[in-house]
Amino acid sequence: MKETIAVRKGDGSTSQVVVGDVLGTLPDYLPAGKRVIVITDANVYDLYAPVIDRYEKIVIGQGEGNKTHATLLEIYERLLEMEADRGCFILGFGGGIVTDIAGFVATTYMRGVRFGFVATTLLAQVDASIGGKNGVNVGGYKNMVGTFSQPGFVLCDPNVLRTLPKREFRAGLAEIVKAGLIADPALFALFENHFFEDFSEDGPLLLEAIARAIRVKKQIVEADEREAGERRKLNLGHTFAHAIEKSSRRFLHGEAVAIGTVTAARVSCKLGLLDAALAERIRTVIERMGFPVDAGVSDYRLAEALRLDKKKEGDEVALVLLRGVGDCVIRPVPFDQMETLIAEEE
Ligand SMILES: NC(=O)c1ccc[n+]([C@@H]2O[C@H](COP(=O)([O-])OP(=O)(O)OC[C@H]3O[C@@H](n4cnc5c(N)ncnc54)[C@H](O)[C@@H]3O)[C@@H](O)[C@H]2O)c1
Ligand SMILES: [Zn+2]
Repeated sequence: MKETIAVRKGDGSTSQVVVGDVLGTLPDYLPAGKRVIVITDANVYDLYAPVIDRYEKIVIGQGEGNKTHATLLEIYERLLEMEADRGCFILGFGGGIVTDIAGFVATTYMRGVRFGFVATTLLAQVDASIGGKNGVNVGGYKNMVGTFSQPGFVLCDPNVLRTLPKREFRAGLAEIVKAGLIADPALFALFENHFFEDFSEDGPLLLEAIARAIRVKKQIVEADEREAGERRKLNLGHTFAHAIEKSSRRFLHGEAVAIGTVTAARVSCKLGLLDAALAERIRTVIERMGFPVDAGVSDYRLAEALRLDKKKEGDEVALVLLRGVGDCVIRPVPFDQMETLIAEEE
């Protein structure tokens, strides 16, 4: 079973996102007669060598610490050594780190070559590989250098998620809950009606959740490819998540997003936008999936980390807040109210 979701790009062409049992048909998506160079990480290569070894490859180290310009330079140099020209096709094969880096390399090497992705983490399938944002971190700040450029195709095969550690799988679910809260109440309802194990064990349920999350992202990206407005809604929970990630190394990105989403619901409630009962339902869903709901960082430290956010605007930060399930708004919130707003009532 497979479903193709076409994401329309600004230039009128489309990026094909294919969800389902598709890894075996990878060659059908690659341009005929072109030289294919795979960019992957060491973990993914160990697991998928039989597929990857059909092509030339560049293997990078795994983990966020490698999402840097040093890795970019290594890749560019390797491509030059391999005498890769503008006719080559780059295939990012991995999680969000690999797709963010491979997308940037493909967009910049020789001023741009064609590219596609096999997304191998849940987070990459529902979020990172979709929509064309790519880039690297600089000086500890996330995604400071990058471009908007969508791949020709993205293959999202849930079978590859079987090798994913449970914790990484759960982290991806946080981005799906986020998509439901932003724009798809029926998707959020899946989480109110199922447990964590249901998503890892029930194939059709997982497929539905992945496809729904991709459709939410598709709609938003099509409306605002370059993040002039609407696309900022995808950052629900993320301003807090980035502050949490800066303050504590304990969490995976998706875990920080889960805590950030609960925080965003609480702040929305305190600002009178969201009903308290609904904020509680959101917290319950996230807690029941097995996420931490408290960063273990003081409100003061979190508020300070928010103040240091590179995307701040003067004395305020634009937060994505909730008015309901599937209904969010972007509001500027002054830093001097932040510590009080994020605090949990005793
Ligand atoms: N571009 C975007 O729009 C966007 C959106 C969301 C997140 N991101 C970025 O995505 C990154 C996080 O992505 P991620 O969570 O996929 O991290 P990741 O790429 O580091 O993958 C997580 C871990 O799982 C391993 N792995 C990957 N696939 C596997 C598989 N099938 N089986 C077993 N192990 C596997 C990886 O080697 C890694 O150790 C962050 O840098 C974040 O900024 C980008
Ligand atoms: Zn995220």
